Amino acid sequence: MNTIRSMVLVSSDAMSMDAGAQEVFTRLQKEIQSFDLEKEVTVSMVSDIGRHDSVPMVIVYPEATLYGPVRPDDVHFLVEEHLYKGRIAAGLQAPAKELTGKIAWLSSRKGTLPAEQRIVLERAGIIDPTSIDDYILHDGYQALGTVLTSMSPQDIISILEKSGLRGRGGAGFPTGTKWKFVARTLGPKKYVVCNADESEPGTFKDRLILEGDPHSLIEAMTIAAFTVGADEGYIYIRGEYTLAQERLKTAIAQAREMGFLGKGIFGTNFNFDLHIHAGAGAYICGEETALIESIEGKRGEPRARPPYPTTNGLWDRPTLVNNVETLANVPPIIRNGAEWYRSFGTPSSPGTKVYTILGNVNVTGLVEVPMGITLREVISIYAKGMKNGGTFKLAQTGGSSGSIIPATLQDTPMDFDSFNKTGVSLGSGALLICNEETCVVDLARVLVNFFVNEGCGKCNPCRIGGNRSLNILTNISEGVGTLEDLNMLIELSENLYQLSNCGLGQTAGVPQRDILKYFRSEVEAHIQLKVCPAGVCAMSGQRVY
Ligand SMILES: Cc1cc2nc3c(=O)[nH]c(=O)nc-3n(C[C@H](O)[C@H](O)[C@H](O)COP(=O)(O)O)c2cc1C
Repeated sequence: MNTIRSMVLVSSDAMSMDAGAQEVFTRLQKEIQSFDLEKEVTVSMVSDIGRHDSVPMVIVYPEATLYGPVRPDDVHFLVEEHLYKGRIAAGLQAPAKELTGKIAWLSSRKGTLPAEQRIVLERAGIIDPTSIDDYILHDGYQALGTVLTSMSPQDIISILEKSGLRGRGGAGFPTGTKWKFVARTLGPKKYVVCNADESEPGTFKDRLILEGDPHSLIEAMTIAAFTVGADEGYIYIRGEYTLAQERLKTAIAQAREMGFLGKGIFGTNFNFDLHIHAGAGAYICGEETALIESIEGKRGEPRARPPYPTTNGLWDRPTLVNNVETLANVPPIIRNGAEWYRSFGTPSSPGTKVYTILGNVNVTGLVEVPMGITLREVISIYAKGMKNGGTFKLAQTGGSSGSIIPATLQDTPMDFDSFNKTGVSLGSGALLICNEETCVVDLARVLVNFFVNEGCGKCNPCRIGGNRSLNILTNISEGVGTLEDLNMLIELSENLYQLSNCGLGQTAGVPQRDILKYFRSEVEAHIQLKVCPAGVCAMSGQRVY
């Protein structure tokens, strides 16, 4: 009997798919067959492996040799040289580069970067996301089996409460508490909804979980449904995430066929099934009540709260809404226990956080690390420093609705409490790192413009306050602002926060508030000296007005 001696992985993130990963995969299968190697060599598509310069990439284990870009016509040579003759396929290796992120982890299987810790991304990039067998081989559906055969809903809530898991959708609400609220609300019908809208600029963490490990979400939602007493669930997914949608559809069909979804799951009398609902490109539909309206077929406008979705959600029924990353934490917590989970992160924010790193740094991308690391660590360890020797000036942490912070705050440990303590927001985990050539007025103007465009228009404070702020910032960036405008900006920011109906309006005043808090002299220079101290104000395209 032959044993598997080699494993070949093909990158299948969106860029790799565009560059022909599917054909490379198909050709690999054929060539492996034609060399009569199919009993010794496996080939799988894996999601984003963290490097996009030479896609599609092929990694051959156990040597972890990295090839790329691999074209379909290269495949015969690669199989013959590496898999048949056992030597490197010369000329096809990916350009030498220091390995970072997932590739580094894939290569070592241990994680070479200090402090990197994968919980929600533990399988992404390792398994074939289109194979339920692969998921099961990597501990998949084990937590669901444990829950359905030996745990009560109260046991699950208690583990989640002890673990300290908090919502990764931005607000950090304790997950166990939310599950308890829905579980204890009585009613003949309840829903579980996964918020996979992910429209926060610069945030793509949920996409990687959905593309790389779709079954983990299905398993988590089924556990959630059992806990709160729901029999129907919705995954509200960003419309542009077409690959993730395909992977989810495949995974749902497989789960139904294997009896992990549908009637009598795991041979019990528990029933649960899932629908996928694609969004149509509105940031506001990520807000949980607008999302619920959207599933119901209405305009995506947030509801007044209370009542909260936990009691009056989808079609007025008790509804649990959780983010993708939040849910993906649940099966590992069930498998390994609350104490294990608490061994990562900070006491008030246990576990890991997936960050998406963007901006003027050497390495952009995605990393999962324990909660509590500092921005300085992110920039120096994971982002490999500022690009072209630039100077770190500011970061926007937590996405557009997060905070703008100066370099002096880069040693703040980031967790859910750092916002209250120091003003450093964790939010969605997007980290936009900017160098000295960033104009703060322009940055705030671009962000407020985003909120104005994406607001639903329903409440006056947001609609009028956002537009008024945008006018002022535009005037300042065009050199026609006044010092009185700055007082008005602060007042508008306060009103937006106090009076807006939902989180979009409440945070639409944060960029102008933060730039005036940390960079007031730079803003004043635009008004009094008609100069952009950063060098280039993108609005005018000139150094001096
Ligand atoms: C304008 C706006 C957009 C939002 N977008 C998202 C989103 O894309 N994904 C998400 O999970 N939460 C988003 N949220 C937060 C949700 O309203 C909600 O708090 C979250 O889905 C709850 O899940 P969690 O407890 O697991 O964090 C958004 C909130 C606002 C105000």
